[in-house]
This record gives sequence, structure tokens and C-alpha cells, in this order.
Amino acid sequence: MASLTVRKLDEDLKASLRLRAARAGRSVEDEVRMILREATEGPSAAPASPARSVPQPHRSRTSAATTLPRVTLIIGGGIAAYKALDLIRRLKDRGIHVRCVMTRAAQQFVTPLTASALADERCYTDLFDAQSEFDAGHIRLARDTDLIVVAPATADLMAKMAQGHADDLATAILLATNRPVLIAPAMNPLMWANAATKRNVAQLARDGIAFIGPNSGEMAEANEAGVGRMSEPLEIAAAAEAILRPRATGPLAGKTILITAGPTHEPIDPVRYIANRSSGKQGFAIAASAAEAGADVTLVSGPVDLDDPAGVRVIRVESARDMLAQVETLLPVDIAIFAAAVADWRVANAGDQKIKKTSSGMPPLELVENPDILATVSKLKQNRPPLVIGFAAETQNLIENATSKLKRKGCDWIVANDVSPASGVMGGDRNTVHVLTLDKSNVAIDSWPVMTKEEVADALVAKIAATIA
Ligand SMILES: Cc1cc2nc3c(=O)[nH]c(=O)nc-3n(C[C@H](O)[C@H](O)[C@H](O)COP(=O)(O)O)c2cc1C
Repeated sequence: MASLTVRKLDEDLKASLRLRAARAGRSVEDEVRMILREATEGPSAAPASPARSVPQPHRSRTSAATTLPRVTLIIGGGIAAYKALDLIRRLKDRGIHVRCVMTRAAQQFVTPLTASALADERCYTDLFDAQSEFDAGHIRLARDTDLIVVAPATADLMAKMAQGHADDLATAILLATNRPVLIAPAMNPLMWANAATKRNVAQLARDGIAFIGPNSGEMAEANEAGVGRMSEPLEIAAAAEAILRPRATGPLAGKTILITAGPTHEPIDPVRYIANRSSGKQGFAIAASAAEAGADVTLVSGPVDLDDPAGVRVIRVESARDMLAQVETLLPVDIAIFAAAVADWRVANAGDQKIKKTSSGMPPLELVENPDILATVSKLKQNRPPLVIGFAAETQNLIENATSKLKRKGCDWIVANDVSPASGVMGGDRNTVHVLTLDKSNVAIDSWPVMTKEEVADALVAKIAATIA
């Protein structure tokens, strides 16, 4: 396996790598990894940029190391440093990626080599390390993480934090970070009870630092007991996980929702495709609203020019067949909402090469029917979501066509909207919808006034929450 030293690349290349990395919110090293992965596995292999990836529970769905929540573990110079080694394992057991930093004093108690071996990654120790500082490594260590854990947090380290010192790697990271910080104090009971420590603890709490422990118990020193023992590694790992994967709250907490959105692109040849005017805005708004209501949301989207909604796992696809394949892998879910404008047909004889203009006239394009995602999922014998909602975009006889679609497709609700050019719905920001629900063979129609697509999304999510409550 060839090795690559970014430091040895020419200056122009390094500058453009730094720019790419900064734009994506990644370290230079991670950006290089991303480029190599894309080159070997294709663009879909690249995980979302960490800049967007607020720690979300659904991250743990994939096992790729880069998508795991990340902890930077700062090990301070106390007798409890040996327990930090166990903490590395406990965090990794919970599917958390760990990167270690040791203070100079910590290295008197445990070795960086042991921490590196347990974390499967180099342990960082030196602020002035030329190798990691060529791209301001302390800033990367401070930001390229989801949480910083300090364990053990010695009295000295807490004093430095409270004062804003930055004279070594650990304190520089703690000062430069914009991520949450969790500290596990560990010290002699008299040090913990000292007025100076109390002032520092109060200051750190005001600064928004989270604490775990200390516990009460026997000290390493003979015949000493009291409050000052570091919390057990399992307790610290649980506290870290609670920050990284907060329990969702809201009316849809605990529910999994699959949403499709946008158009599909059906290739004619490598450069041309059949598309439609769907912007994806309505499906994206529903995904955002469902995530805000506490649901675990996965959005499968055709090609659109929209940012990923916060807290939503987004999978981008091109064609109807790609979309169905993704949908099938995501089942079972509690609720499926099919808001995508899936092309009804695709080109049967799509060319591998660009079709050339010839004197013999227009090339014949033969169309074949695409899979019907809504009907396929609605009629599943196994893994059919308990609530399946389809969309009917109609340009005429809205209610009549939507009613027949509801019965024909086998779904539970249809959200019908008028997409005739005069309505301005396709690509626009407003929508007028009618929600048709099937109860045995009776169809109930709930007609809503003109609303923004976000308001439609909120109203639909509220109706879902009221129905499944
Ligand atoms: C054997 C030994 C054990 C120590 N244990 C602790 C401890 O548990 N907690 C603490 O706050 N300081 C402890 N100290 C003192 C720290 O090592 C010292 O304050 C050091 O500067 C802290 O470094 P740091 O800021 O890198 O954590 C201990 C010192 C020695 C020699």
C-alpha cells in the first residue's frame, strides 16, 4: 500500500486541498481520504460533510468509521489516567470513534503508545508537533470532533481551563473548540474541596462545561476517602453517549419515517435525460418537520438543488429504479411518505454513448414503464409500513383522480395537489392540498387553504402525529 505525505505535496496543491477541506468543514487529511474514496468507490461513498453533521442518532446506522460520532479524549495527569484507557474501550464499544490527546503530566502515568493502540489512532501530545501542525492540527483536533471528554480532569487542568490558558496541546484544543465539553474530575478530596477548585468548578459550569462526577469513595492514597474519585469509565461513556445521541423528544419520537422527494432523471444517453419540474421542496419540508417532531427520518431524494434538512439522513439517487432500490433497503419503517415525482416511463433503449445527430432523422426513443414505488410498497405482504402516504400531482379533475389513485395504489392517504401551470406549485413555495384518507371503503377529504410548503409539512406531520398517537 503506497503512503502519501500531504506535507510533501507542492504548495499550490496543498493550498487548493486546504481550501476544499475548509469549504467542506473537514481536515486536510480527511479531505484527502474523501477524494481517494470517491475515486475508488464513486461519489456516493463519501459521507456528508462534518460541517453539516450535527451528532444525530441515525449516524450509528452505518458502520463506516468516518460516520461514527467522534470523541476527542483528553487525558490529564492524575492517578486515574489508567482508567481513561478503559474509557477508550467503553466508548468504542458504543460505536464512538475515539482520538486521544495526553498532557505532559498524563504521560507520567500512562503511555501514548497504549492509548494509540487502544484507539487505533495516533495519540496526540505536542502543540508544536511539526507533522500535525502544518495545517493547524490543534484547531482540527478541537473542531473535527463531536464532543471533547476530559478524563481525568485534574485540579490543575480545570484551573487552566477556567482561566483560558492555551500553553499546551490539551488546553489549546479546549480553548479553540466550538464543540461540547464533558469533564470527569478526579482528585484528592481536599483538592476537590479547596476554595480555588470550587471557584474553578463554578466558572466552568457557567462556561457551559458538562460535568460527570466526581464520585465519593476510597482514594488511591492509603487511608483517604471522600468526594474526588473519578466516575467509572462506564458512567463516563454513558454520559458521553447521552450528549452525542440525545433522546429525541416530540410527538414522533421513536418513529422511523421514510420520505421520497424530488424528480427522477431517466437517462436517454450518458448526457441527456428525461426529467420533470419537481423541485423537491415539499418532500424536504416534510422531512425537516418530521425530524423536528422527533422522528428518525431518512429522505431519498432525486436530483434537486436543496441542502440536507437538519437531523435528516439524506440519500441522493437519480432514476426511479435507483429510488425503489433504496426504499426497499430502508424498510421496515413506521411511516412512508412518497412525495417524489417519479417518472412514469424510462427510455428502454438508453444509449451507452451519446446519440449523434444523423441525416437519417430523429432517433426513435422507446419508452417502458418504470416501477410504481407507491403501489409496490403499499401492496407488500411483509414490511408494509403501517402508514403509507402518497402524493397525487394532478393538472385536472384533482379530487376524482386522487380518489381513484388512493384506491388503485393501496396506500392509506393521498395528498393531492393541483400542479397545473397556473397554480405555480411546481418549483414554487406555496401549495394547496387536499388530504384524502381511506377508512375501509370510505374516502374522507380534508381540504387545506393555500399555505407555504413548510406550513403544509407541519400540518401533515401534525395530522400523522394525531393519527398514530
Ligand atoms: C502520583 C501522583 C498522583 C496525582 N494524582 C492527581 C490527581 O488524581 N488529581 C489531580 O488533580 N492531580 C494529581 N496529581 C498532581 C498532578 O499530576 C499535577 O497537578 C499535574 O501538573 C497535572 O497536570 P495536568 O494539568 O496535565 O493534568 C498527582 C501527582 C502525582 C505525583
